[in-house]
This record gives sequence, structure tokens and C-alpha cells, in this order.
Amino acid sequence: MKEIETNKNAWGKLSRDHYGHFKKIMLSGNCQLNPTILKEIGDISGKTILHLQCNTGADSIMLAKMGATVTGVDLVPDNIVYARKLAQECGVDNIQFIESDILKLMDFHHEKYDIVFTSEGVLIWLPDKKRWAETIRHALKDDGFFYIHDSHPFYFIFDEIEYPKGHLIAKYPYFSKEPYVGDSIGGYAGESKSAQVYEWMYTISDIINSLSAVGLFIEYIHEYDRCSSGMVASCDTKDENGLAFVKEFENKIPLVFSLKAVVR
Ligand SMILES: C[S@@+](CC[C@H](N)C(=O)[O-])C[C@H]1O[C@@H](n2cnc3c(N)ncnc32)[C@H](O)[C@@H]1O
Repeated sequence: MKEIETNKNAWGKLSRDHYGHFKKIMLSGNCQLNPTILKEIGDISGKTILHLQCNTGADSIMLAKMGATVTGVDLVPDNIVYARKLAQECGVDNIQFIESDILKLMDFHHEKYDIVFTSEGVLIWLPDKKRWAETIRHALKDDGFFYIHDSHPFYFIFDEIEYPKGHLIAKYPYFSKEPYVGDSIGGYAGESKSAQVYEWMYTISDIINSLSAVGLFIEYIHEYDRCSSGMVASCDTKDENGLAFVKEFENKIPLVFSLKAVVR
């Protein structure tokens, strides 16, 4: 698909910078997953995890350091090269990485996992949420669970420049089915770069209905007014856990959601 190839090229422009950014953090020794995610996934030691859209592997490595055996998947060849390098440099070997469009993964990868995990900046890159849900179900053991922590689509309707200044301007359609064509990528782990990108809006019902349609039962969906810094541009007030929010919208607008689903 032309749009996925375009996104692959765009993400590839960031691979080296992301590797450098995450290497510095990982080797500093005080690197942890987002505290919301940590609390929600609980004890994962001894579990097998499929990590979808793993970028250059930092979160995969943190999951592996928590005692899980992790398989990370990402679209971009250089992300996989750097993820393997970073894992080696962090001394983590209970981990492997696969280069693939996740929407093609079940064509050739048939291993079953205790947990399918994906987080922070993932759904917007996927044109087909039905295929996404089928991929998750295909990879899950019957007693496994799926976990996602990602941007809340309600937040996406607002003008991203005005939002951090405390102004709510509804700029983007919540129900859009056509991809949004952007002209830059990144900015959360290094400088952003000019690149054409295709992003697909999703709704809360798209997520729930696509997972439900493949036989997954939604155990919970949580909504939060704060997120990892970097997920929302210029959102720089931080709480005691280091999570970022915009003061004017504290307790008012959801920025991220988490969802856990199990096999019915
Ligand atoms: C914002 S990053 C996700 C970072 C994530 N928080 C992590 O675990 O490091 C989005 C990632 O999705 C990947 N991606 C985009 N479309 C994809 C697709 N169709 N299949 C697999 N990976 C994809 C990109 O290459 C990029 O690494």
C-alpha cells in the first residue's frame, strides 16, 4: 500500500536519532515505562509478549528487563537494526525483533503470546482496524490478554497548536475515514523532520467494536487527562509521576486511554 510505504520512509528518517536518544536514556539506568502502563500491566515476569510497533526497541527492552520474553515488531528496517543493537548494548537477550508491517504479520508469524502489547503513538498509523484486531487475536493465547495505551481520539479533534495555549478549537473531524496527509514526523525523541505522512483517525467505538468482533472481551477502558511528555506537543506541566498535562484542561479533556481485553 502506497501510504504505508510513504510512512515507512518517513519513520526511517528518525531511526538513527531515536536510537541515539533512547540509548542515552537506557544506559543512564533510570529508564522506566510510563507509570500508568506499569501500574496497569502488573507483573509480567515469565510471560511472552508480542510488542507491536516497537520503534527502536526501548519499550521492548524495558518489558524484557521486567522478566518477560519479548518479540518486537516494526515496519522500518533501520528501527529493527537499531533495536537489536540497543538490546545488545543493554545486555538484554530475552528479546527478538521482526521487521514487518503489523497488518501483514499474521501472513507468516504464527507464534502465540501471553500478552500482545502496544503503546503511545500507534493506532494513527494503521488504516485497517479490522485487520489490526484480527492480528492481535491471531497472536494471543486463549488465556492471554491484549493491552493498549494510546492517544485518545477525542483530543485529536483539537488544533494541536492552540490546545497547549489553553484554547479549544475543533479543527479535525472525529469521524474522518480519509487519511490526513501531514508534512512532518517525530519531535518526541529528537528533532522533527519534514516528510509526507498518512495518518488515520479512529474513534473509541472503532477500537472497541473491532476488538469485540474478533472475540475479545473488554475488561476495562480507562481515560486520562495526562500522558507521557512528548505525546502531546508543548504539554509541559508535569504531575508528581512525571506525566504531562495542560493546566486549563486538567480533569476536563482526555488525552490518552488504556484498554485491556481478554479472549472471550
Ligand atoms: C510513535 S512510534 C511508537 C513508539 C512506541 N511508543 C514504542 O514502543 O517505542 C510508532 C511506530 O509505529 C511504526 N509503524 C507505523 N506503521 C506501522 C505498521 N503498519 N506496521 C508496523 N509498524 C508501524 C513506526 O515505524 C514507528 O516506529
